[in-house]
Amino acid sequence: MIYRIVSKILLVGCLFGVWGMLMACGAETVPPVPTETSRSVVTYEYDTTTLQEGQIGYQAFCTACHAPDAKGLTGLGANLVDGDFITTRTDEDVLAFIIAGRAADHPENVSGVAMPARGGYPNLSDDDLLAIIAYLRDLALNDI
Ligand code: HEC
Repeated sequence: MIYRIVSKILLVGCLFGVWGMLMACGAETVPPVPTETSRSVVTYEYDTTTLQEGQIGYQAFCTACHAPDAKGLTGLGANLVDGDFITTRTDEDVLAFIIAGRAADHPENVSGVAMPARGGYPNLSDDDLLAIIAYLRDLALNDI
């Protein structure tokens, strides 16, 4: 009789142990909720041709405001290398930003200077811009 009671207590104890382990594992596998401060770096594998096209495009259409090294010019374009704007966004998100631009009076504008839609060159295609984004991401990631 005593033996049966003891074995029942042991069984219940084991079940609690297993439950506890499951709860502990469950807690570890809950994915972290992304927040503004914990956004992680987004990386891609680009081919050399895209990066070269992007460099040519950047130098032709963006250097006037963002500087040849993409580190920005005071009173003109923002620093695209040291900030985390590009590295924490997908290509699609950066593309959407460049297509739209950011007016000087936009609530998120930090410099009071406008970022023109498509850099001010409406003829630049989405693919042209994606190559430029590839080049800039490569620059920014190499600078981290
Ligand atoms: C006439 C000047 C001008 C040109 C040309 C220009 N930009 Fe900009 N860009 C700006 C300004 C000014 C800002 C910052 C706006 C602000 O203060 O929020 C900016 C911001 C950006 C940002 C966001 C950076 C951040 O941290 O907020 C990206 C990305 C960007 N530009 C990409 C480009 C690309 C790519 C080109 C070329 C196709 C380009 N820009 C051409 C003026 C320019």
